[in-house]
Amino acid sequence: MFSPSLLGSDFSRAGEELEAIAAAGADYAHFDVMDGNFVPEITFGAKFIEDLRPLSDLVFDVHLMIENPEKHIDRFIKAGADMLTVHAESTRHLWRVLQMIKESGKDAGVAINPATPVSFIEPVLPIVDSVLVMTVNPGWGGQRFIRETVDKIAELDSRRAEGGFSYIIGADGGVGRKNIKELYDSGMNLAIMGTAFFNEDDKSSFLHELEEIVEA
Ligand code: DX5
Ligand code: ZN
Repeated sequence: MFSPSLLGSDFSRAGEELEAIAAAGADYAHFDVMDGNFVPEITFGAKFIEDLRPLSDLVFDVHLMIENPEKHIDRFIKAGADMLTVHAESTRHLWRVLQMIKESGKDAGVAINPATPVSFIEPVLPIVDSVLVMTVNPGWGGQRFIRETVDKIAELDSRRAEGGFSYIIGADGGVGRKNIKELYDSGMNLAIMGTAFFNEDDKSSFLHELEEIVEA
């Protein structure tokens, strides 16, 4: 499954870019919310998502790179998020914030930075719908893939099988043709792509090509 990230698109044409994601055959659209504190950059808030919501039936996958996400969960749910992912490093109340998301009927995801081990989120693995492994340092699109993070995907895949858990595993950052096979073979289910996707003129062929690469 693919979740193209609007961060790699032209925000002045956000509606069309969102439509291009659906037209390419993706199921998800990834929204990178940055607050200038948890990460240096600032992108957009809930209103951006709210305004785009009526234009699309895609699953809105909202990646919160913000401090104290528990303060903002309700607002992003009202805006139309289907899946909300919070960083394990961004809150002292990880269990509570994940519970808040689940109680609202939305999918709850937990993200980990490249330097955060899988063991750090072990207690919440039974309750999450998704684990997002950052394969770059969060904060910017277009960075180089950090290969060492693939081991964490494999570890999450093993723990999922051992524990009988049902979370999906996402990889975010520097994902494209060169590493999709390795990620998929390690247990990744959802490829988040900004630059690689939006650099392609024929986005639909690109996603087909990636499907062929992983199935080969
Ligand atoms: C990085 C974001 C990513 C970003 C990925 O902080 O979380 O979702 O859009 O962009 P690329 O695919 O360009 O690395
Ligand atoms: Zn992201």
